Amino acid sequence: MTVHIGAEKGEIAETVLLPGDPYRAKWAAETFLKDVRLVNEVRGMLGFTGTWNGHSVTIQGSGMGMPSLSIYVNELISTYGAQTLIRIGSCGGMQPHVDIRDVIIAMTASTITSPSSGILREINYAPCADWSLLRAAVAAAEAKGTTTHVGGIYSSDVFYAERPDLDEQMVRHGILGVEMEAAELYTLAARHNRRALAVLTVSDHLQTGEALPSDQRERSFGEMVEIALEAAFA
Ligand code: HPA
Repeated sequence: MTVHIGAEKGEIAETVLLPGDPYRAKWAAETFLKDVRLVNEVRGMLGFTGTWNGHSVTIQGSGMGMPSLSIYVNELISTYGAQTLIRIGSCGGMQPHVDIRDVIIAMTASTITSPSSGILREINYAPCADWSLLRAAVAAAEAKGTTTHVGGIYSSDVFYAERPDLDEQMVRHGILGVEMEAAELYTLAARHNRRALAVLTVSDHLQTGEALPSDQRERSFGEMVEIALEAAFA
C-alpha cells in the first residue's frame, strides 16, 4: 500500500491506463476488461485490475491536473512497478482542422510550469511520448478509421485560463489541443525509464466553443480505451 493507493503489491498490473475521472476508470474497466476487481478506493480515486485479451491491466483514476497525476504515477512506478502508463482523457481542440470527437495522440507536451519545473530549473525540457506506444496507437487508430491527429499538445496548469496571449502562442506554434496532465506523465516516465503515452478525445474546442454532448462522450471515450489497450500490447 502507498499513501494514496490501497492495493496490495501484485494487485496492480504492469500496464496502467489513467483516465482523470475515477468513474471513467470504473466504466472502462467494466466495459473492456474481464475478471475486474476494485483495487483502490482511497479518496474515491477508483482503480480496477482485470484482463484484456489475457493480459493483466489496471485502470486507475489520476485526478485532474499534473500535481494529482504526479502522486498516482510516482506511487504506481515506485511501489507497484508499473511499466507502461497510458493517459486516456479529454482535451480542448486548438487548431481549426481539429474537430470535437477527433482523437489526438500526443507526441510531445509543452508546459508553462509543471511539478518537475522545480528540479529541471533552467532546462526547457521537451516531454516526449514513448515511440513504440505512439507508433502502435497511431496504427490502431488508423485501423479503426478514427480521425486522428498526432503532434504537440499543451499541458496547462489551469482550466480557466486568464492569459489568452499564451493560448495564442500555442495555437500559432501548431499545438493541437490543451489538457492538464500529459507533460508530467511523460517526464516521470522518462525519469524512471518507463513507457508513456497520452491518447485524448477532443471534448471541446477553444476557437469554435463547440462541446461534445454528454450522451456522445461515452462512445468517443470507448474508442480511446481500445486504442490505448491495442497500443499497450502491440
Ligand atoms: N482546458 C484544459 N483542459 C481541458 C480542456 C480545456 O479546455 N478541455 C478538456 N480538458
